[in-house]
Amino acid sequence: MKGFVLGVIVAFLALGFAFWFVLKHGYINFSADREPSVFEARMAMDAVDASTDRRAPDQKDPIQPTEDNLLAGAKLYVNHCAGCHGIPSNPESQFSQSLNPEAPGFFKDAPDMSDNQNFYIIQHGIRWSGMPAWSKTLSDEEIWQVVTFLGNIGKLPSRVQAELGSTSSQPAPMPKGMPMNH
Ligand code: HEC
Repeated sequence: MKGFVLGVIVAFLALGFAFWFVLKHGYINFSADREPSVFEARMAMDAVDASTDRRAPDQKDPIQPTEDNLLAGAKLYVNHCAGCHGIPSNPESQFSQSLNPEAPGFFKDAPDMSDNQNFYIIQHGIRWSGMPAWSKTLSDEEIWQVVTFLGNIGKLPSRVQAELGSTSSQPAPMPKGMPMNH
């Protein structure tokens, strides 16, 4: 029994050392233009989803989807989000392709998460991805306006669609709050 316990401890130590060695000696490639392994993509995606499930506060969108609120959400979206998440005339922005994980194009695939989960993700961002935390840039009310906008993306009134420049062929603008690496 003693030998078995010792064996388990040694196995764990060896595993820990192997893990440290692989990380420390640069065997993991962090380049964004490299496909992650199926294992990494699956694990990371599931972990982010589970973390959002666990943490997103159980609250309802306090904002009504009136035209004014949708318009306010659309303006915020164009200024801060469109550069990565696209606009109707350019649903796959250049950034969405260059980021790894890619930024989902919301005019290709409408966001399918609940309002409270979208609120949580927009507020806190997603570490190790290009998704910034907006809590320092936008007020809670503004975040809810964007959430309301995203929740109604398939049925926007024409005044709101016009705000998105849906007839223009201009590429999406650079997001204002985009963090730059130097
Ligand atoms: C610099 C690029 C960038 C900007 C700007 C940006 N995002 Fe993101 N966003 C991402 C990336 C990349 C992901 C995917 C992260 C992942 O898969 O883990 C993401 C994910 C999301 C998600 C989760 C989508 C899902 O279904 O999993 C939401 C919601 C979201 N962003 C909303 C916004 C909103 C709203 C804004 C503007 C206030 C914004 N994002 C600005 C890059 C960006």
